[in-house]
Amino acid sequence: MAEALRVGIAGLGTVGASVVRSLSAKSAELSRQCGREIAVAAVSARDRSRDRGIDLGNTQWFDDPAELARSGDIDVFVELIGGDDGPARKSVRTALEAGRHVVTANKALLSKHGVALAEIAERKGVLLNYEAAVAGGIPIIKTMREALAGNTVSRVFGIMNGTCNYILTRMEAEGLTFDACLKEAQRLGYAEADPTFDIEGHDTAHKLSILTSLAFGCRISAADVYMEGISNITQADIRAAATLGYRIKLLGVAQKTESGIEQRVHPTMVPTASVIAQVHGVTNAVAIETDILGELLLSGPGAGGAATASAVIGDIADIAKSRPGFQHGPVFGWPARELAPYKRARMRTHAGGYFIRLTVHDRAGVFAAIAKRMADNDISLESIVQHGDALEIESQKTVVLVTHETTEAAVRKAVDGITRDGHLVDKPQVIRIERAG
Ligand code: HSE
Repeated sequence: MAEALRVGIAGLGTVGASVVRSLSAKSAELSRQCGREIAVAAVSARDRSRDRGIDLGNTQWFDDPAELARSGDIDVFVELIGGDDGPARKSVRTALEAGRHVVTANKALLSKHGVALAEIAERKGVLLNYEAAVAGGIPIIKTMREALAGNTVSRVFGIMNGTCNYILTRMEAEGLTFDACLKEAQRLGYAEADPTFDIEGHDTAHKLSILTSLAFGCRISAADVYMEGISNITQADIRAAATLGYRIKLLGVAQKTESGIEQRVHPTMVPTASVIAQVHGVTNAVAIETDILGELLLSGPGAGGAATASAVIGDIADIAKSRPGFQHGPVFGWPARELAPYKRARMRTHAGGYFIRLTVHDRAGVFAAIAKRMADNDISLESIVQHGDALEIESQKTVVLVTHETTEAAVRKAVDGITRDGHLVDKPQVIRIERAG
């Protein structure tokens, strides 16, 4: 049997501890599958004295992850520190420059510096694997990078944040408040250290920007993702959606349009009968539409220590199976230096259906005024209803509109007009509708 693959792990939080535990528990199976042993040779974390419930035995300890990254005693550096700069970036760069393979779960780092890091990895002829960075345990990176070679992708979309999907699922199923559901997600270890990253859409945006690069062969541009979170979704929206045959999900969507690439993260109405609407709780799902294959949907556990550790271990095993001198494929599917510049489509040009919920004064002419604003902006309505939901206040009513396909610019103009007309008693709620099979 070949010599053991020596792994150095930086970051021993929920995921890091789970990786150490599983590598030890599955050591015999992994040795047989990879043709060599995978040994945790060294680790680095902030607090050496903390009990993590794992046996580190004689494993070398490094206080500084960058020192671990340049250590000659490891073949692979596994970065589970997190953060888009600081020690994570420094140690990953150091490891790549030192000719070590790298495995990372860090979507924030890759969404900001992924292309630069890929250039180093490709120059040095080492692997930079990042399956765990997008959609937890779902093998979406391998699928897009390897299995879909030759396919031209037109759209990739999905539920990529377990915390948000967990919150929306429980709000719908149990009528619970947003805050109660978020607390539970945090308790279960799904949420980021700062949960606003989850609920305001940043985490999904980071993941989406990586998939966009894989899908369209462009440079990663997380800064160009249009983003809205779920914190203003109410029970009124969830109930109105259900009445109309929709369910609300936080989706990340990347698609090619005539004016460029659209990257957007926002609460989205998907038909209740669609497959993606059946994805509940912490589960993630990613759909890809291509010319050769058609539509593919992968779903599975998207957050939590075990799911993420599964993807990290798969990446380590790929390195263990690779042989010295073998040319590795490019990190983002195309050589990093050849990735095209990102061409952004403005959100105003987005075309689709819209759900609009308005709380209005109950008086004559309101319906007519709303309908006129829609007509003035060339928006065709699928339905306009005064909603059955009895509001506490007798003088106010809820009006829900569903539009046929129109543009974001038209909807914004119409809603601004309705607001100026003075019939609204609350902020209008606008939720995009996404076509989903
Ligand atoms: N906080 C993330 C989620 C974890 O809720 O999906 C995985 O990135």
